[in-house]
Amino acid sequence: MQQTQILAADDAGITCAAELLSAGQLVALPTETVYGLGGDARNDRAVAQIYQAKGRPSFNPLIAHVADIETAEKYVHFNEMAYEVARAFWPGPITLVLPLREDAGISPLVTAGLATLAVRIPAHPVARRLLRAFGGPVAAPSANPSGRVSPTRAQHVADGLSGRIAAVIDGGACAVGVESTILGLAHSPKEAPLLLRPGGVATEDIEALLGLKLQTGGDAAKPSAPGQLLSHYAPGAFVRLNAITAEPDEVLVGFGAVAGDLSLSPSGDLLEAAAQLFHLLREADILAQNRVASFGPQGDDRQGKIAFAPIPETGLGQAINDRLRRAAAPRP
Ligand code: TXA
Ligand code: MG
Repeated sequence: MQQTQILAADDAGITCAAELLSAGQLVALPTETVYGLGGDARNDRAVAQIYQAKGRPSFNPLIAHVADIETAEKYVHFNEMAYEVARAFWPGPITLVLPLREDAGISPLVTAGLATLAVRIPAHPVARRLLRAFGGPVAAPSANPSGRVSPTRAQHVADGLSGRIAAVIDGGACAVGVESTILGLAHSPKEAPLLLRPGGVATEDIEALLGLKLQTGGDAAKPSAPGQLLSHYAPGAFVRLNAITAEPDEVLVGFGAVAGDLSLSPSGDLLEAAAQLFHLLREADILAQNRVASFGPQGDDRQGKIAFAPIPETGLGQAINDRLRRAAAPRP
């Protein structure tokens, strides 16, 4: 348990919060919608800690908060429609899902392995000052334990997360009180944007700006629409779970006492395992593909075999196992 500081929204408080974020610590910050649970979006461990603090049972993708459009352009590709929406509604309660840049340097835990990133420039003056002082992208889901209501006051954050995060900045009550609208703009520029979640910016206002009807039927909680899945994080190999030893043609990914060709965490630390997960999925896949060359093809479009050591179903282990079960599931 760590002591959670409540920081005042003054220069000293903002400076302290920016330093904590730079050091990989978690800071809850006020936005105009709800309080966010922030961590450096480029830091795998910090992002793993966000999931740990919230107790999320799966790696849902997170929103990256930035200070301005120039900063956002470092992480995602904008198209004309995205610029139009951004210029009209940012800073403000709308989030744009756009194609992730190859060189973004965003932790794959933020995107949960997707090829897209959700970005937002919040309007709350305290959030803006913190984002400018920090200078980088802040991954921030709502600052509540998983399954509880989103917090709109610093005290709500403290009630739910005290002892699990380094600090919360007290910026008073949130003005909007509902989460940001999420607009999917990552598909073909000829198609209308997809309303992934209604929120702080009214659908009608977006439609009036663009002069078209938004597509609906998307679900921000299940971003699996075609084109959203990042193939290089979905292993191309067959995946077997709960393996203590490997067959000769399998690449073994260890954990704790199970050593393996690679290890999610030799010391059996779930935070380290979560932080490494997407990187190791990719590395193991490359190793498995290389082994196929020597063992011959297997008659499926999947090639190679990866076996994962058992991961305890506690804390972050739940989200890790959820991801691994998806990797092991038969493909449609
Ligand atoms: O107002 C808000 O949006 C607040 C404040 C803190 O900014 N944040 C928030 O975050 O509501 P969260 O994590 O509770 O919700 C983020 C939503 C999730 O439903 C997630 O699935 C969706 O955004 N999302 C994130 N990245 C996505 C992506 N690449 N594609 C589709 N949906 C995505
Ligand atoms: Mg939430």
